[in-house]
Amino acid sequence: MPEAVISAVDLRKSYRVKGKPDLVAVDGLSFEVAPGESFGLLGPNGAGKSTTMKMVGAVSTRSSGQLQILGLDPDRHGPDIRSRLGVVPQQDNLDAELNARENLFIYGRYFGLPARVCHRKADELLAFAQLEEKARSKVDQLSGGMKRRLTIARALVNDPRILLLDEPTTGLDPQARHVLWDRLFRLKEQGTTLVLTTHYMDEAEQLCDRLIVVDEGRIMAEGSPSELIRRHSTREVLEVRFGSERNQQVAPRLEGAGERVEVLPDRILVYTHDGERALERITAEGLTPVTSLVRRSSLEDVFLRLTGRSLIE
Ligand SMILES: Nc1ncnc2c1ncn2[C@@H]1O[C@H](COP(=O)(O)OP(=O)(O)O)[C@@H](O)[C@H]1O
Ligand SMILES: [Mg+2]
Repeated sequence: MPEAVISAVDLRKSYRVKGKPDLVAVDGLSFEVAPGESFGLLGPNGAGKSTTMKMVGAVSTRSSGQLQILGLDPDRHGPDIRSRLGVVPQQDNLDAELNARENLFIYGRYFGLPARVCHRKADELLAFAQLEEKARSKVDQLSGGMKRRLTIARALVNDPRILLLDEPTTGLDPQARHVLWDRLFRLKEQGTTLVLTTHYMDEAEQLCDRLIVVDEGRIMAEGSPSELIRRHSTREVLEVRFGSERNQQVAPRLEGAGERVEVLPDRILVYTHDGERALERITAEGLTPVTSLVRRSSLEDVFLRLTGRSLIE
């Protein structure tokens, strides 16, 4: 791997909570991010993703472990690191008093860029974010997806070496998510290093070259989406429903139909190389599911396998 732009070794963070034992949010994460890579942290709510991003972004100090961002230690070089990063926090923090273009301009000024440069950047970034028509609109007149795109545009004002995105599409409708993914693809194509967190497995599959699956502050698995699926799941999954009352009762009879069976509250998952074959075996047994569906394995299946839980509760 070329010289890592981010390197974490046994990174930990505990929070002091009054009258209670310390809360361990990040419990020994080790990972590296290579330049130009698109790296993800995939995990459910409370996994420690935002806490990790804040330490990487040099806005929160670590409790222990080693951390280097662009070769620098955030404990000693916070401002230097922050000036070279673009940060898209989980909650948009745009200036509601200002319009879209002013948000970009002021942010550039904040980084010490000359006014002339800020004007040029604001126009370029409005075009990139597909917000040219909204240049003069106040922030609260923008849709959720537009705000998100503006926050990303703003994070690019200082030509960051690394762009950190904490749950870039949480709360957006499917169409807005696709528009945003398209913008992030462009950045990836231009060679920007992306580090993103998400609890959406499809987002991780679409955007990440490599990712860590995180749960309760620990790494459960690491690899490319396809590697993780190959390693921890089967090629296909047959989803069958027999009705909420019957699923649990029928499940043992499906054991032989595939390699592994998972019973969820509303359906049964049969892990197998060939979903259609599995369905044939089940019907040959005299069992008739109310609904059946064959699909490829996803990172959701990987997470379920590793933790016994779903990514989204
Ligand atoms: N400032 C804080 N003070 C105390 N506990 C916190 C604080 N921030 C986060 N936590 C706790 O740390 C854990 C990890 O949170 P977080 O990093 O936000 O997870 P994620 O972003 O994956 O949802 C959670 O249990 C959360 O409640
Ligand atoms: Mg979070």
